[in-house]
Amino acid sequence: MIMEVIKHDIVIIGAGLAGLRAAIASAEKSRDVSIAIIAKTYPIRCHSVCAEGGTAAVLREDEGDNFDLHAWDTIKGSDFLADQDAVEFFVREIPKEILRLDNWGCPWSRREDGKIAQRAFGGMSFNRTVFAADRTGFHEVHTLYERCLMYPNITRYDEYFVTNIFIEDNSIKGISAINLRNGEMTFFNAKAVILATGGAGRLYGFTTYSHQVTGDGLAIAYRAGVALKDMEFVQFHPTGLIPSGILMTEACRSEGGYLRNRDGERFMKRYAPEKMELAPRDVVSRAMWTEIIEGRGIDGPYGSYIALDLTHLGEEKINERLPLIREAARKFSGIDPVDEPIPVKPVAHYTMGGLHTNMFTETTVKGLYAAGEVSAVSIHGANRLGSNSTAECLVFGRVAGEKAVEYVQGKSFAEITKEERLAEEKRVFDEFLGRSGDENPYEIKKALNEVMDRYFWIFRNGDEMKEGIKRIQELKRKYENIEISDKSRGFNTQLIHAMEIGFMLDLAEVVAFGAYAREESRGAHYRLDYPKRDDERWLKHTLAHFTPKGPKLDYIPVTITKWQPVERKY
Ligand code: FUM
Repeated sequence: MIMEVIKHDIVIIGAGLAGLRAAIASAEKSRDVSIAIIAKTYPIRCHSVCAEGGTAAVLREDEGDNFDLHAWDTIKGSDFLADQDAVEFFVREIPKEILRLDNWGCPWSRREDGKIAQRAFGGMSFNRTVFAADRTGFHEVHTLYERCLMYPNITRYDEYFVTNIFIEDNSIKGISAINLRNGEMTFFNAKAVILATGGAGRLYGFTTYSHQVTGDGLAIAYRAGVALKDMEFVQFHPTGLIPSGILMTEACRSEGGYLRNRDGERFMKRYAPEKMELAPRDVVSRAMWTEIIEGRGIDGPYGSYIALDLTHLGEEKINERLPLIREAARKFSGIDPVDEPIPVKPVAHYTMGGLHTNMFTETTVKGLYAAGEVSAVSIHGANRLGSNSTAECLVFGRVAGEKAVEYVQGKSFAEITKEERLAEEKRVFDEFLGRSGDENPYEIKKALNEVMDRYFWIFRNGDEMKEGIKRIQELKRKYENIEISDKSRGFNTQLIHAMEIGFMLDLAEVVAFGAYAREESRGAHYRLDYPKRDDERWLKHTLAHFTPKGPKLDYIPVTITKWQPVERKY
């Protein structure tokens, strides 16, 4: 049995925006620390490349924008569940990141006068979303990836699947990962670990997420004792392409696109008369779903949908500002948006919750940090505003990278012991790969997606969620009895998928318990049986702690600095 053991001062798990930004920040802070980036894909295939519409930042105080306005939009958008100290810090930091990426070669779209262009985005009261056409995430990732290549103290381990983290005396000491090429278990001793593994969107069947976004980092840390915060808040983006779920960026609407029902009506005037199609996502998605369930959707081969109408924008503008949208709509739906409206409906898009950290990305385990979508810092609260996510990855990726360097100074390695290594090897290859049951993991995943799409979707209610919880628990029982028919080592995708499904089942249970317990409607969590926000009882964060029997919930207060909750109208 070969078990490679490698040492790095800082190990970063995840090679998306937050992970790459963290690596650069660590490398810039110290040329003497050794940094590893470990990810199950190559960096340029990470899910961050799917971010389309942009990154929010205050760049134009001279034209009327300011930090308080960005903070207020974010806090109101969050339905007052965001921690306001974290938001205030975030809005001040992100403009510096935009300029840094500009210097590093990110091809931001420009105005006529050559300055960085900004577009409107839902729930923002100023045009502050910086963009690179509709491929913003793609260009940001490539810029950071190229920058990473400059630093000799960054080593990449592409196509390594992380299976566990190791903690002793409440301090991190390393991780284990399967080297996918040869199937060997590899152990990384580390003084600090940064989790940057993204959200858990593949819990849902109709989703904008890439297939690899299975919540691995969330589940691994949760099982190891880090609490998950506010996981009941799942974002449904209004415009998922039918039938694939591919993101039709909010930029379609900020560039002037309309949402229409079967009567051709711009129905948003009945739901958000001021902001119309550019209300926050929770508001627009609920409006669209209401149109659909009340029979005003448009009938199509995949059910009822809403029309995203760009036809009045003209070919030139669509080609310049929304080239990816045109290409994707043509290829995956057979629709050219220049000539016809795009068929869309709300789609699972973002995990507002995540690992409980403070505003410096520190978890409750010493030396363990979390940045980007895997974390709940928490700046998004109950509903994230579009273009605050890539922004979060850049700001808090940097913070995590710098904090980790400070932490490792003067520290020595605490080794993952031989017993621990043997136990992990046995757990994964003997007990998990070796088991022979009669359940098919892919069937379990399909059933899980159906449960989440049905019981934990845009409109929720107690009785339905209770049934949903029962079904998730049945699936968990079935999962104990799965069979992985491919017993080989190298690139055993069945083994990896089966492990991912285990992570997703744990996370689904956390979403479900949190949602069932929260007897109010706030942001993206809308309960038909409790349709009002209830600040007296529920202005608090949910924390879910792992127990072998299922999540145990408790609650912590929200940090309010200067914005008291008010009624949320758009
Ligand atoms: O619609 C979009 O382009 C998505 C942006 C985001 O989730 O921030």
